[in-house]
Amino acid sequence: MEKKKILLIDDEESIIKVIKKILEDNGFYVDTAKNKKEAVSKINKGKFNIILSDYRLPDGTGIEILEHFREKDSSTPFIIITAYGSINGAVEAMQKGASHYIAKPIDADNLLKILNFYLDRHESQETEETEEFCGIIGKSKKMKNLFKEISIVSKSEATVLIEGESGTGKELIARAIHSLSKRKDHPFVAVNCSAIPVELFENELFGHEKGSFTGAVSREIGKIELAGKGTLFLDEIGELQPMPQAKLLRVLQEKEFFRVGGTSLISVECRIIAATNRDLEQMVYEGKFREDLFYRINVIHLKVPPLRERKEDIPLLVNHFLEKFNRLNEKSISGVSDSAMEILMEYDWKGNVRELENAIERAVVMCQHDTIKPEQLPPRIVNRSRKDTADFRRSLTETNLLEIERKVILKVLEEVNWNQTRAAEKLGISRKQLRTKMKNLGILNRS
Ligand SMILES: Nc1ncnc2c1ncn2[C@@H]1O[C@H](COP(=O)(O)OP(=O)(O)OP(=O)(O)O)[C@@H](O)[C@H]1O
Ligand SMILES: [Mg+2]
Repeated sequence: MEKKKILLIDDEESIIKVIKKILEDNGFYVDTAKNKKEAVSKINKGKFNIILSDYRLPDGTGIEILEHFREKDSSTPFIIITAYGSINGAVEAMQKGASHYIAKPIDADNLLKILNFYLDRHESQETEETEEFCGIIGKSKKMKNLFKEISIVSKSEATVLIEGESGTGKELIARAIHSLSKRKDHPFVAVNCSAIPVELFENELFGHEKGSFTGAVSREIGKIELAGKGTLFLDEIGELQPMPQAKLLRVLQEKEFFRVGGTSLISVECRIIAATNRDLEQMVYEGKFREDLFYRINVIHLKVPPLRERKEDIPLLVNHFLEKFNRLNEKSISGVSDSAMEILMEYDWKGNVRELENAIERAVVMCQHDTIKPEQLPPRIVNRSRKDTADFRRSLTETNLLEIERKVILKVLEEVNWNQTRAAEKLGISRKQLRTKMKNLGILNRS
């Protein structure tokens, strides 16, 4: 993990020495400044995770540095060290945006506790605010959790299975894991398992030697070797036939393979990430996917939520794709009209982010104005979404009608002192009909 950078500002040489030592012993990187001028210049030039400043300095105060700092950065923790008992200084510090103040003499344990507390809090706030993570757009709770999982998983070497409906961004996630891992400078090689004919599977993964079969005019290396110390992405792994499943299992177990027609063993050095839009566990249960292979790839399981379960991400994604296709088409469409956005929000996006991306691309191409209107959206989406809305409105009206009916019946019943025969007469329905209605509307007989 990267060391946290602290700027320590104090004019007393002895204090600097002691605190610096404590902090360095605890894994921090410490830069120091002896006065306000030096501190301001360091702040302007570098980026710190936390700033720790004495109140009184030869050419000013820590508060002045804080004020200067807060003009640009409202969230990085800034801690003021005040002289013993200087309540006024402490109050001023807090009012001016200090995260905390510490009174001298400084207690090492206490200082570390405070620093770690503010560092953790700041970090979690920063991840709260992100709307993009390695090119993956999203701010919904579900996506934020996924971002956290991705960053944890990328630090490990474990095999990952990414499960999600078509178009949810599984490949994007696999690439993110790779680019955050220590394998990032090695290749990322994607294999679409559904596109390889059974008889060519071995050739694709393991490669072949010259002359190993008719047409093998030269040696060719397979995807595992191509990936080297990088990442091999096995897409649509649920589509693998039994035979390739067995071959894959073997190479994952042995960590070694032969090229087709080869005689020397080659070791597997790449990390495996697999993806599927099928429910593999269910497939195992149905006997369509090998259980042993499932357990081997399902060491870490990431589930990507469908777009309809995180609709708050739609406006963000719309803007993201709008910018992308503006750039590609040399257009400058500024946004989406309210009615078009309403349609996009109501649609159920079975094709997920990919379907949304295609819809926006089409709209950008078709649009001759400044904003995208419903007319530029694919008719399928507009019609479908309108139907959903109409259904919804109808159900609302239906409940309203029932509510009105209930009120009318209640009113008539009160008027006739809960005499059902007379009430039915007044309402123009039979007594039996009235009873049924009362029962359905939850009206209890009070006579
Ligand atoms: N959260 C996201 N932010 C930005 N772009 C996204 C996001 N999710 C998906 N995309 C984009 O949507 C398209 C589909 O994503 P991707 O190919 O990763 O999906 P997939 O889950 O692998 O789909 P399939 O199962 O159909 O192969 C890509 O162009 C990708 O860049
Ligand atoms: Mg894919």
